[in-house]
Amino acid sequence: MAFANLNLGQKVSVKYFIGAMVLFIAQMVFGLLAGIQFIQPEFLYQILDFNVTRMVHINAMIIWLLFGFLGSVYWLVEDESGTSLVGYKLANIGFWVLSIAVTIVVLVYLFVQVGSGTQASLWLINEGREYIEAPRWADIGIVLVMLAFFYNIAATFMKGKWSGISGVLVLDLLALAGIYLAGMFYSPNISMDQFWWWWVVHLWVEATWEVLVACIMAWGLMKTINARREIVTTWLYVEVALMFGSGILGLGHHYFWIGTPEYWLTIGGFFSALEPVPLVAMLVHAVYDTGTKNLKVSNHPAFAWFIAHVFGNFLGAGVWGFFQTLPQINLYTHGTQWSASHGHLAFFGAYVTINVAMFYMAIQKIRGGQIFGSALVNKYRWKTSLALLNIGAMGMTIALLVAGYQQAFIERAVEGSTWSGFFEAQTNLTFIASMNWRLLFGVLMTIGTFVLAWDLLTIGKTNDSKNTT
Ligand code: HEM
Ligand code: HEM
Ligand SMILES: [Fe+2]
Repeated sequence: MAFANLNLGQKVSVKYFIGAMVLFIAQMVFGLLAGIQFIQPEFLYQILDFNVTRMVHINAMIIWLLFGFLGSVYWLVEDESGTSLVGYKLANIGFWVLSIAVTIVVLVYLFVQVGSGTQASLWLINEGREYIEAPRWADIGIVLVMLAFFYNIAATFMKGKWSGISGVLVLDLLALAGIYLAGMFYSPNISMDQFWWWWVVHLWVEATWEVLVACIMAWGLMKTINARREIVTTWLYVEVALMFGSGILGLGHHYFWIGTPEYWLTIGGFFSALEPVPLVAMLVHAVYDTGTKNLKVSNHPAFAWFIAHVFGNFLGAGVWGFFQTLPQINLYTHGTQWSASHGHLAFFGAYVTINVAMFYMAIQKIRGGQIFGSALVNKYRWKTSLALLNIGAMGMTIALLVAGYQQAFIERAVEGSTWSGFFEAQTNLTFIASMNWRLLFGVLMTIGTFVLAWDLLTIGKTNDSKNTT
């Protein structure tokens, strides 16, 4: 059996990673469809509408990143706790429940595209909350699976040993699952609805997910470059304190214009401006760790993706987030392609990258723990996908930024946010050209994703057996 050398947690993890990769490809394909529809609005009109392609694109992203995170935690839990997973069966059941729920939800999205919003549609079809649009029945399923997951991880650490990393990790998972509940309240008042919805969207990506990837990164640095535990743990504490310190009240940058009291302008402006600080700390941390030792990397592709994560997180979240976070600027950029530019680079840079790094950590062990170094056969494959995905993401970000600039300038600044101003911006030649560039870079990224899948299926298979750790 190919997976004989994996521990129980890692066996579960492989399932999650495969699920993640399948959904990653789906995300890219639906992104491309949405990108084409931006340029050719009649493309697939009334067959697969833009609102549906876009919804599947971003929901597939959230779900595959979650699959990847669950997989990553299952991957490291036995190593970090020094004992075996308490609930192997439970973990498998969780995986299948989640996968079947996701499949049904997506099929329903595709088959029921139009109709009125009622209590029944809320329960059965779509909750209508961007990024977390799953209907209520699936929501409840997700919460149950997350609670079972939480129990499994916490109980395993309790049976084995605790560490700084696992302590932070377990508390963070509790917060992550708890916040999801805020996205399940229903209010017919759109401001109140948005108020709670942002608790999930913002507090996930700018607080709990950041802490989760900081834990994964701490563990990953110990494994790939032998970083010292005391150093990564100390940094982890510093980053977590800064992250929660700025990220929680940074929530205010989504409360500027949705009908909340005006004090949010000050709170949101101030604390979200501080949010890049922990990201700088993470960058310094990783560079420091790699620079202070004579670097011997046992897994080149994983390490390259860890580095991509550190820079991507810093640029996408820190710099691109900061661009538009002061209320004086956000007044003009709010909800334009400027936001989409930041959204793409932040999600890609912070979360896609670290998941891919973990895929490579996993496949290394599956292929017998050989060194993924310069002796690797066909190493052009991982390098090609690394280049295509990163160049594609950066190119798309710049294209969207140019489009966002046009939009903010023409629609908001010159035309004063009028209806005709909106169309003036949408038909601006530079705006349209940028949308074409976005599609081109999207094609590069999609090819990069397929090359990644191909590489993961083949990497290390043809190496000679002497090359092992
Ligand atoms: C990895 C972390 C992050 C991710 C994944 C992320 C992702 C996103 C996404 C997808 C949106 C668009 C939401 C929508 O559909 O309306 C958004 C909006 C926003 N983000 Fe981030 N973000 C991150 C970190 C940050 C940071 C650190 C800052 C500030 C320094 C920031 C500032 C903003 C602001 C101000 C908006 C609102 C844009 C608007 O008004 O349209 N983000 N973010
Ligand atoms: C891993 C790579 C990708 C990530 C992380 C990602 C992430 C996102 C996010 C967060 C949004 C919502 C943005 C917002 O509301 O502000 C979005 C929307 C979108 N994405 Fe992607 N995406 C990726 C790849 C692609 C690709 C390859 C394409 C193909 C062209 C694409 C095309 C689109 C389009 C057309 C939208 C709708 C934008 C709008 O409503 O204005 N994305 N994506
Ligand atoms: Fe935010």
